Amino acid sequence: MKAHDFISAQDITTDELKSLFDLAKDMKANRNKYLRSCEGMSLAMIFEKPSLRTRVTFDVGIQQLGGNGIFLGPNDINLGKRESVFDVAKNLERMVDIIMIRTFAHAICTDMADYAKIPIINGLTDHEHPCQALADFFTMWEVKGELQGKKLTYVGDGNNVAHSLLLTGARLGVNVTVATPKGYEPDNDVVEKAKKDAGQFGATIEITNDAAAGVAGADAVYTDVWASMGQESEAAERKRIFSPYQVNSGLMAKAKSDAIFLHCLPAHRGEEVTDEVIDSEQSVVFQEAENRLHVQKALMHELLQ
Ligand code: CP
Ligand code: NVA
Repeated sequence: MKAHDFISAQDITTDELKSLFDLAKDMKANRNKYLRSCEGMSLAMIFEKPSLRTRVTFDVGIQQLGGNGIFLGPNDINLGKRESVFDVAKNLERMVDIIMIRTFAHAICTDMADYAKIPIINGLTDHEHPCQALADFFTMWEVKGELQGKKLTYVGDGNNVAHSLLLTGARLGVNVTVATPKGYEPDNDVVEKAKKDAGQFGATIEITNDAAAGVAGADAVYTDVWASMGQESEAAERKRIFSPYQVNSGLMAKAKSDAIFLHCLPAHRGEEVTDEVIDSEQSVVFQEAENRLHVQKALMHELLQ
């Protein structure tokens, strides 16, 4: 990879995405081949928000490459309060080889990348979740084959996950539709960037407030929680506003009959998705969660070269 860090889905080109998917596929099929590829390397994992998948897949991932992970939770370094982002970066760059950070403001992640000499990976900010989008499109590629011209519809909040899906999908030639309630659309600058890339790679980007129309003809239907981490106080209001955007069997029926269902997880069953959909044959959410491991191993391998 040309980029030194992976902060945004835009840090990876189309060719690099395709090579990364090939590598992840090989890593998934031949785990033993890569047991020493990052031997002796250390990964610091900074978490200012809770996590199951990101924590486990990064920790297990670096171990499967011959390295080791160090978990730094919110109470360990108390980023920006006990110690500045700059000082944390200048310390860690002398101690570890790579940093993954999950935080609130996206600027904390970009600042860390500006200050530290070692690669920084975005493990989720309020603005993007680029590792998630890698696993999502890798999963879609595994199940559906060639991605060019396929349609993915994201239904729900125009949040961090939606942003990374738009930016990654555009570069892979996937037609991405995002259906949200009014006022909850993805950020305009992200949509503009995605449209520019989509134009170059023969894809389309559509933003709509009509979930049923948005899902029509989709090869993949995606949703995420209505209130993200940090938005807990808005949960009740959002539940009311977002309820017409629930992914239930009625909405799934508008997509192609062989459409898959994706969700980054954790899911709030009965809210953004019904049990009937998430537990259906069409749902590939646990394969998608497992694939976080494989794509992130490939990513760390590339950034540590
Ligand atoms: N999808 C995802 O990032 O899960 P966690 O919040 O559990 O890491
Ligand atoms: N949008 C969700 C994703 C969790 C993986 C959040 O930010 O909480």
